[in-house]
Amino acid sequence: MTQFNYDGLFADNAPVTTRAANRHARYDFAVAYPDPDTLPLDGLADALRVALEREGRDLAYYPVAAGYPPLRELVADKLRRDRQMDVSADDIVLTSGSGEAINMLIQALTNPGDVLLTEEYVYLGTMRQMRLWGAEVVGVKCDGDGIIPEALDETIQAQTAAGKRVKFLYTIPTFQNPLGWTMTLERRQRTLEVCGRHGVPVLEDDCYVDLRFEGEDVTSIHSQDDSGQVLYVGSMSKIIAPGVRMGYLVAPEAVRQRAVSFKSGGVNQFAALAIAEYLRNNMYEHIDDENRALRVKRDAMLAALGEHFGSRAQWSRPEGGLYVWLTMPEGTDLAGFQEQSFREGVGYYNGTMFSPEGNGANLARLCFGHPTAETVAEGIAELAAIFERNGIFSG
Ligand SMILES: Cc1ncc(COP(=O)(O)O)c(C=O)c1O
Repeated sequence: MTQFNYDGLFADNAPVTTRAANRHARYDFAVAYPDPDTLPLDGLADALRVALEREGRDLAYYPVAAGYPPLRELVADKLRRDRQMDVSADDIVLTSGSGEAINMLIQALTNPGDVLLTEEYVYLGTMRQMRLWGAEVVGVKCDGDGIIPEALDETIQAQTAAGKRVKFLYTIPTFQNPLGWTMTLERRQRTLEVCGRHGVPVLEDDCYVDLRFEGEDVTSIHSQDDSGQVLYVGSMSKIIAPGVRMGYLVAPEAVRQRAVSFKSGGVNQFAALAIAEYLRNNMYEHIDDENRALRVKRDAMLAALGEHFGSRAQWSRPEGGLYVWLTMPEGTDLAGFQEQSFREGVGYYNGTMFSPEGNGANLARLCFGHPTAETVAEGIAELAAIFERNGIFSG
């Protein structure tokens, strides 16, 4: 039979996604997965059984658009307690991962040609979605304390002077992906102040906040504002697992109403039941277990970098999250070498992949979440050996 021809039927903004099947190097520092050994599988199974026995018959109904109310209550309690946010369950919409929340907000706020600001290196998934909706993504200069307020101010002014409309700033202020730093309180306040002065809202992506294994929490940007200027997204991917596909957004009513129109129905109630029941009894204990394991892996990565890279590179020392950010001398081409390194057994993502402007060929993100500490140490030794063999250390 001849195949039906779709040519001429596709939407103008429907890109062809040719995502290769997930490829994993022998030592895989590219992907940002959690450790499968720390997933709370027994706890989730028990929680699911309890919740289904109690209210499984409700699965006969379609879920409400904002998602399972008890999970929204639980999230609101957590945000009040841990992030000092003045929110209730009504301010929250559950989403299929925080990726969907970000996507809904992008769609609700962006016309083609609008400018969306991000940190100078930014989570790939967000950048992809922004571009899909026709936004121009512009990175703002950062240092180890976060976004540089003067650079933010200048960028907004320059874009405005060029006739562009800056729709929002997207920031990952805690354990930034990929840079790893946490923005200081002072920088959070100044970011808000600069954006406020220009009428620009802030979308705060706090998905890594619970993965702190050292140092002190810095309060949310959201808590520093009472005007509705800050939109907030969070995720269950990092405290339970990406496979549960559960996240949430917090936004003022006018934004929520528009964002929700880009969502087809409520979230998966089956998953929401299990997650709410599990977290109600186990959340902080589980997070502590997870962070103990992550800390050992981070230490293994830092020690191995010290041993095998020594003075030939610099790297971040994150207090939480899943990433170390590697800086090789200017001129080193980690972008061009990425595929070869993968083939020789070590996967990483180079800086250009995270940069709206395509900068950072000498930089790389190394994730320590998924492999064991022993594998992390072996993999870093192997990466150094691969760099040595291929002349990467000599520039
Ligand atoms: C900064 C950031 N935001 C959002 C996401 C999306 O996560 P999810 O959709 O699984 O909640 C990720 C995934 O790695 C991320 O790194």
